[in-house]
Amino acid sequence: MPHFISLADIPAAELRAILDDAHAMKAARKGQSKGSLDSNAALRGETLAMIFEKASTRTRFSFEQGMRQLGGTSIVAGANDMQLGRGESVADTARVLSRFVDAVMIRSNAHSTITDFAQHADVPIINGLSDHNHPCQIMADLMTLEERGVTLKDAKLAWIGDGNNVLASFVNAAPAFGFELRISSPEGYRLEENPKTKGLIEAAQNKEAIIHDGLSPDEAAAGADALITDCWVSMGDTDKAERLAALGPYQIDAARLSKANKDALFLHCLPAYRGQEMTADVLEGPQSVVWDEAENRLHAQKAVVKWCLGK
Ligand code: CP
Ligand code: NVA
Repeated sequence: MPHFISLADIPAAELRAILDDAHAMKAARKGQSKGSLDSNAALRGETLAMIFEKASTRTRFSFEQGMRQLGGTSIVAGANDMQLGRGESVADTARVLSRFVDAVMIRSNAHSTITDFAQHADVPIINGLSDHNHPCQIMADLMTLEERGVTLKDAKLAWIGDGNNVLASFVNAAPAFGFELRISSPEGYRLEENPKTKGLIEAAQNKEAIIHDGLSPDEAAAGADALITDCWVSMGDTDKAERLAALGPYQIDAARLSKANKDALFLHCLPAYRGQEMTADVLEGPQSVVWDEAENRLHAQKAVVKWCLGK
């Protein structure tokens, strides 16, 4: 069953094909109105269910509109509106939804909810963000870099900030796409210090990924082709004050961006908190590609759903 749960589990050639399809679909519908059908509406008759245990703007709207553009339909529910929220098991929910829909996207608190669901479902499961990773986001990010002319296998990408779920998916993607990943996170907030993500960097390095961890923010930025960050307080994090204090020196401001290559890009999955992980001038500046990055969630995820359904 082609689940889309972790980029570490999907062969490089298939990830490449998903990105190629995303680029092609985006190009093919240039100038069309946003709700109109793609000329190749490949998901006619298919339904995607989406379950959200946490808030979402981009993931929800992009998957819904993507299914519409492909001629399919979607059904969205908050977990608390389902019997899941009253104690029905993940396994039973997976077996029942498999009788109604063709694929299920889940945004969960615990990653194990998604893997449990996949174990008991007869249809493909897509990870729409968990406490471990966020694979759909990274497909959109890589697509954005490519459309700005970055060749991934030669690229130096710098992550400066919290060692979180989004970073984990960059680490998982590194062996498949061949970019160099430089990581700068404060003590206490490094990917390797989090029991949920410990070992991911080594696993990627064992597949020949070039990953430098434990860098200072300016070491990571020097000569990079892109600076990437995310909010300092993710959904579910409870230690806000400690995080803001520890992450303060990791802010991406104009001076730090100027340490990167001249035309380096700034990426952020959004939502962004100006004055925390980056200054407003960086987010709104000419090197920022965050709005294209958000749009590309739509195109990349259409390709992901098609891949899951063999279309
Ligand atoms: N970047 C992202 O996943 O956004 P949402 O939380 O709004 O879906
Ligand atoms: N790291 C963030 C990403 C939000 C899209 C979170 O998990 O809240």
